[in-house]
Amino acid sequence: MKIGNLHIDGITVLAPLAGITNLPFRRIVRKIGCGLVCSEMISANGLTYGSPKTQNMLASDADEKPVSFQLFGADPAIMADAAVMAAEAGADIIDINCGCSVKKILKGGAGSALMKDPEKAREIFTNVRKAIRIPLTVKIRSGWEPSGKEAFLLARIAEDSGIDAITLHPRTATQGFTGISDWTLIAELKQRIKIPVIGNGDITRPEDAIRMLTQTGCDGVMVGRAAMGNPWIFSQIHDLMTHGRYSAVTIDQRFSAMKAFAAASVAYFGELNACRMMRSRLTWLVKGLPGASRFRESITKIRTLEEAGGLMDSYFESLRNEQD
Ligand SMILES: Cc1cc2nc3c(=O)[nH]c(=O)nc-3n(C[C@H](O)[C@H](O)[C@H](O)COP(=O)(O)O)c2cc1C
Repeated sequence: MKIGNLHIDGITVLAPLAGITNLPFRRIVRKIGCGLVCSEMISANGLTYGSPKTQNMLASDADEKPVSFQLFGADPAIMADAAVMAAEAGADIIDINCGCSVKKILKGGAGSALMKDPEKAREIFTNVRKAIRIPLTVKIRSGWEPSGKEAFLLARIAEDSGIDAITLHPRTATQGFTGISDWTLIAELKQRIKIPVIGNGDITRPEDAIRMLTQTGCDGVMVGRAAMGNPWIFSQIHDLMTHGRYSAVTIDQRFSAMKAFAAASVAYFGELNACRMMRSRLTWLVKGLPGASRFRESITKIRTLEEAGGLMDSYFESLRNEQD
């Protein structure tokens, strides 16, 4: 897939997930073989006001590249300034959030609120486009009603404003994450615009990605929730596309990814904060394995990387013994 002048290795994209797709998680996913990773949404206002917490979200590392930084906001000038900051921090792509339907974001006129205000969206797109030279993308929902009319209009405005690709999560803003995403809208969008379309919504297994590509003709596939417990889904999609099959994740692959994830999280968040986070995140990665609940209980109080490492060592040792 090519987005603007940027070649993406393959067709898979890690979705922006607030609170999840931070630098440590993105590094793991990229290493596993995802083509493009996206940051969690970052407040343009927070960046330009100099909030240290927000600015810290621009942390990046060479081994995650290419990376897309997603911005949300409603002020065209602030969005343009924030895009420059993100580009200078190392973003390969800037993505504009037009899909978030969380009340707090909507109240500020950002996210899905822009799908009700296409002229404001146009102003944001053109301002940001003028401010940066790297590829610029937009992530949208169906709109506020299910026909997709607002999505098609916004996508046309985006294309006319020099946006390089569109991601469509075909649920309405009011739907949140309920119901199922309407992939026919992805197919229709693909017919209506020339820039690449990335399809998103309800890819839970590698087979779903192939089905989405076939049914909609989309250029790339974005995976969100399924990647939280199975970041290997990206290499599995690649294997299924290129070899017609994929393998189950091995114990050793899981073990080394979890160890690397824990270490990267400690480096980024500090030991105690990272360990608090690992208490739930590591369990997502062993869900369904024998003894997973025992492992989950064992890590509820971890405070150091050494402790976490020891518990992972003994859990994986027991899994290997069971396998022999
Ligand atoms: C916990 C969580 C956080 C999310 N955060 C963002 C976000 O920051 N920006 C965004 O555009 N979408 C966000 N989304 C939506 C996802 O990017 C994606 O569009 C949606 O989950 C559908 O894809 P999936 O079925 O593969 O999960 C979030 C979704 C979840 C579940």
